[in-house]
Amino acid sequence: MKLILLGAPGAGKGTVAKMLTEMDGSVQISTGDILRGAVQAGTELGKQAQAYMDAGDLVPDELIMGIMEKRLQEPDCEKGFLLDGFPRTIPQAEALKVLLDKLGIKLDMAVNIDVPRDVILDRLTTRRTCSNTDCQAIYNVKSNPPKVEGICDKCGSPVIQRADETEEAISHRLETYNEKTAPLIGFYENEGLCVTVNATNSDDVINAIKERLAA
Ligand code: AP5
Repeated sequence: MKLILLGAPGAGKGTVAKMLTEMDGSVQISTGDILRGAVQAGTELGKQAQAYMDAGDLVPDELIMGIMEKRLQEPDCEKGFLLDGFPRTIPQAEALKVLLDKLGIKLDMAVNIDVPRDVILDRLTTRRTCSNTDCQAIYNVKSNPPKVEGICDKCGSPVIQRADETEEAISHRLETYNEKTAPLIGFYENEGLCVTVNATNSDDVINAIKERLAA
């Protein structure tokens, strides 16, 4: 499958992407995870991205397209991919369309995971993430805590709260989403690719995706 996962911060894009990749071997491509990895590794990309990310602002489109142009041509993408957190702006969506046309790749759908704002705020303040950039497993202190407090079940690394999870950064990320990313729903509706799933349960999201893929 070749999917785009749309949805506000905290809608559950990363959680759903990880569940889907475990089912069919397609690869999750999260621009947020790639950028956090670059920040932790202290690369030039990380240095350029960090201030934007910590403030809850979007990283400039040119940096993101530079990453994605290379990433989508790596061999593991042939089995299918789930784009998590990309595209995030209309210029990114337009550039992605040109790139996929050039590579001869056809998207199956863009899934808009629609979750109420109060649920999102609650989830983001209680999310914890594995600090190991090769793992980045997602937990939630309320709904899905690690078995041993503060330690990742999968790799044993410390589980932390992300730097952009202060109340101020979260509310700025939600504003940025409404202004810059929500218009992508209309963009993919016009392309005949958008499916909106109103569900707070990740299994319901996955079942809706499977039904649409089978139709
Ligand atoms: P990114 O990492 O993409 O963050 P985001 O879109 O804000 O998304 P999140 O990771 O916050 O949420 P999610 O929807 O994946 O939710 P999750 O599954 O974790 O981006 C971070 C930053 O990088 C951006 O602010 C920007 O600066 C930059 N960036 C990234 N991509 C960019 C781009 N393309 N262009 C420009 N800049 C870019 O779930 C959230 C919580 O809820 C978890 O605790 C989880 O356990 C819990 N949860 C999930 N589902 C359920 C459920 N069904 N029931 C109960 N709990 C649940």
